[in-house]
Amino acid sequence: MTEVPDHLLKRSRDRRAALGLGGGEEGDGGGTPTTSAASPAADPSTSVETTAAARPAAVIPAESPAAPPKPVPPYVQASLRRKKIPLWVMPVLAFLPLWAIVYVNTLSKAPSTTPTQAEAGTALFAAKCQSCHQADGSGGAGRPLYQGSVVKTFPTIAEQLEFVWLGSNGTGPAGTAYGDPNREGGVHKALSYNGNAMPTFKGALTQTELLEVVRHEREAFGAEKIDPKQIAPDGSLLWPNGKPMLNAAGELIDPDGKPLFTTEGKLANPAQFTSGATTGQAAGS
Ligand code: HEC
Repeated sequence: MTEVPDHLLKRSRDRRAALGLGGGEEGDGGGTPTTSAASPAADPSTSVETTAAARPAAVIPAESPAAPPKPVPPYVQASLRRKKIPLWVMPVLAFLPLWAIVYVNTLSKAPSTTPTQAEAGTALFAAKCQSCHQADGSGGAGRPLYQGSVVKTFPTIAEQLEFVWLGSNGTGPAGTAYGDPNREGGVHKALSYNGNAMPTFKGALTQTELLEVVRHEREAFGAEKIDPKQIAPDGSLLWPNGKPMLNAAGELIDPDGKPLFTTEGKLANPAQFTSGATTGQAAGS
């Protein structure tokens, strides 16, 4: 069908002549020019049989312009068969680093889930105090604390920390005055409220928890005004001189950094917190 170009026929003839494979111009060119040139493999099979059985190795490589294509190696086949990465994935990949940065940023904001001192105090009051004092501090089995009452009893937070730590019985025998002696409406005395005792919380709460729950009472029911300078960036309360109220171990310390309580749980230096003391908290009257 296809015309074999003359130069190819000629080259084939020349080659065969050079190798001494019979024929010449007339035997080849006349009979089947197409097959002889186009499929050299068929050629040796007819003539090589007799004459060139010893040299097919020389014939075939020299005369195979159309050598069968090399088989595709399996690893290339595998790579061709494999699914290609779709184009839409490219922008997704390009934005991955941006997404990573955004993601990491959201993680670094997570620590804000740690409750602040005030939040922890609210939860502690509900768990440990509400049964006697009511959620709004209006009192029941325990004294009313609301409407500023608790801050009237304890003009400084230190005195209230001591009272809650020790309870009625740790404060002294029935009738022992506690808090502000000049309290508006009369000084409060141990076991003077229906004779019920305020339990001790020394050991039942940590000193950190004591501070948290007492803050809740003063700020939620006592409407205590706190100088913003006394609130640390993490929300914890500072002494009026800006010093922390807790040490690294979570124990209460006074404005000079010394332990607030003696081992019995009494204020180690009560004179620090009397009215008008410069380092005390919110001195009253
Ligand atoms: C079992 C009931 C009960 C529980 C629980 C209780 N209290 Fe009391 N609380 C009392 C009683 C009773 C008084 C009065 C004590 C007295 O007259 O000696 C009182 C008094 C007080 C006072 C003094 C108020 C004043 O103006 O005189 C404070 C402050 C106080 N409680 C805080 C707390 C805190 C904080 C908790 C939780 C950690 C708590 N209470 C848990 C019964 C309780």
